[in-house]
Amino acid sequence: MKIVRTVAEVRVARASLGRLGFVPTMGALHDGHMSLITAARAECDAVAASIFVNPTQFGPSEDLSRYPRPIEADLARLDDAAVELVFLPSPEVIYPAGFDTRIEVGAIANRLEGAVRPGHFSGVATVVAKLFNIVTPDVAWFGQKDVQQTRVIRQMVRDLDLPVAIRIGPTLREVDGLAMSSRNVYLSSDDRAQAVALYRGLSAAQAAWQAGETSAAVLRSLVATEIAKTDGAIDYISIADTDTLEELETVPEEGAVVSLAVRYGTTRLIDNLILPPRP
Ligand code: PAJ
Repeated sequence: MKIVRTVAEVRVARASLGRLGFVPTMGALHDGHMSLITAARAECDAVAASIFVNPTQFGPSEDLSRYPRPIEADLARLDDAAVELVFLPSPEVIYPAGFDTRIEVGAIANRLEGAVRPGHFSGVATVVAKLFNIVTPDVAWFGQKDVQQTRVIRQMVRDLDLPVAIRIGPTLREVDGLAMSSRNVYLSSDDRAQAVALYRGLSAAQAAWQAGETSAAVLRSLVATEIAKTDGAIDYISIADTDTLEELETVPEEGAVVSLAVRYGTTRLIDNLILPPRP
């Protein structure tokens, strides 16, 4: 496993790697991250990962300074997975003095997470575009867990003709259903127990859809009922078009995505499930 920290070193190392799969991360790696690496390995000659806690995607009152950074454990996991190339840039490598360009994806970046976290997806799009240009992968993997992020990146890749194929891997969950997340370590044991309400709510909506319910208001209220049994504060519950993430009143035969963001204390959790197309 080659660990590199500069753009020039990545370019040299990448040259001999053939068809390259890439998994960008912010570290604090869990099985969800590793599942993307496994998927990349299956499709490509070699796998590259990056670990960079990207400051420009955090709001001023968000958790940038306390975001977990267990770098030794992360490198051990990547080594176990036989990742060929790890890019570990400093903020100065990604944003040198004088850096002054941002990528703004349009409507899809401004709803849901984008409405609650202004500038978040501009930070994500800008750093992902840079990482693509530095690593030059053939294929890049993202998790369904961050469904809006996958849609924003697909829009950017399409609009800017970036020569990278985008793949989406399924959400990995803890045994009780909580979506794996680097932020779960922030939860107190009481909040951790309550946080399963996100998955319970999503599952209730999915079961109702499968039983024939099509009203987005009804499906949303089923999710809200589960959250209301806990101390969680809801940022949003959304029933939206699977591709555009536009809010729906009635779920069509093609299905939808149900997503939500809930705060437990100072920890903000997001999750989603697909309401699959009618058979
Ligand atoms: P991070 O939160 O570290 O996530 C890295 C990748 O892992 C993302 O594509 C995310 O969707 C995926 N992921 C997270 N939890 C997952 C789970 N439970 N199951 C499957 N995949 C999961 O997302 C980011 O970093 C950043 O925004 C980044 C794209 C690296 C840009 O800074």
